[in-house]
Amino acid sequence: TSVPVAVVGAGPAGLMLAHLLGRAGVATVVVDTRTRHEIETTQRAGILEAGAARDLVETGVSDRVLHEGHEHEGIELRFGGRPHRIDFKELVGASAWLYPQTDVFTDLANARDRDGGTVLFGVKDTEVLDITTAAPRVRVTASDGTRHEIRARYVVGADGSRSTCRDLVPEDRRVRYGKEYPFAWFGIMAEAPTSAPELVYAHSEHGFALISRRTETVQRMYFQCGPDESAAAWTDDRIWETLQARVAGRDGFRLREGRILERTVLRFRSFVQEPMRWGSLVLAGDAAHTVPPTGARGLNLALHDVKVLAGVLLRALGGAGDGALDDYQPRALQRVWRAQNFSSWMTRLLHTAPGDDAFDLRRQLGELDNVAGSRAGRTYLAEQYTGWPTGA
Ligand code: DHB
Repeated sequence: TSVPVAVVGAGPAGLMLAHLLGRAGVATVVVDTRTRHEIETTQRAGILEAGAARDLVETGVSDRVLHEGHEHEGIELRFGGRPHRIDFKELVGASAWLYPQTDVFTDLANARDRDGGTVLFGVKDTEVLDITTAAPRVRVTASDGTRHEIRARYVVGADGSRSTCRDLVPEDRRVRYGKEYPFAWFGIMAEAPTSAPELVYAHSEHGFALISRRTETVQRMYFQCGPDESAAAWTDDRIWETLQARVAGRDGFRLREGRILERTVLRFRSFVQEPMRWGSLVLAGDAAHTVPPTGARGLNLALHDVKVLAGVLLRALGGAGDGALDDYQPRALQRVWRAQNFSSWMTRLLHTAPGDDAFDLRRQLGELDNVAGSRAGRTYLAEQYTGWPTGA
């Protein structure tokens, strides 16, 4: 097969890129080592910026987000045992959409099927070759055992936080920036009614908790745990006790409990690799940068990358050549670093690190008061949570 753009990775970044290029008449082949079922059943983030939700609708992916997503006009910060609302709508005229990444993926995969785009799921032995030439190739073994070679003008590495594409940038020509965190998230899916009208980001002396949801009857919740914690070692009772203790307060707030359907320990880090392009290979989304989950920037950042990337690839293929790609990294990276800052700031604001003492806890409460207690502080959080303009 020969197509202008081969894409490694069929997550939201890879599929959205294929969709945007397809609309402009540029064919792609997307490959992924995971099966469609595996991707669809792996729980990921839940929040879409309003701009990203609008892009799904306006570029013709699907308007399902409008019917099945929920617009949230704010969040609740809980600290000192009290709720503090951050009213996005009133502060910055923006909102966020609760719409799970698994649904974004399904919409994009259905759009590829509908529009006749090629996506090979469940491939093995992926090889990306000749990226320093104008004729790179991607070789895979398809799920039926047949060997495929995709010849392209450009290869996009959208293969996620464990990207192998990014390793193709020579070691002496790349820089990796990052931070590890001394904690992880324990995530559960619970069959229970909703406990609060909006998402709750809770700071407590016992650590962080986040109360999110999936539907009226299925709730998504997370709490901070040790990075090496084993999900299987926790009884349901201990999980609920931990969550309840972290949201407890003078207002008597309690989570509504239910059967725990799923549990996972999610490790995370902050990471950026530069450059985002090497020859005919371009990186997008988590392959180039990952953020800690607090504040739900990762998916939104990935979708922003491919929006910028689709534009520059179309110009490059339309006659402008490689030079058009020079615009990509600066336009993508500015937002990446703003999101890196926001994600690590939200994480440090709300989590307890091992070794934190009474001073650290009180200092955090002081910072939370500075954020929630002034319009400037609330606006700072609201602006970043709801996203930045394209290219910034
Ligand atoms: C969800 C995840 C996040 O990281 C976040 O900040 C908000 C919501 C979620 O999975 O619902």
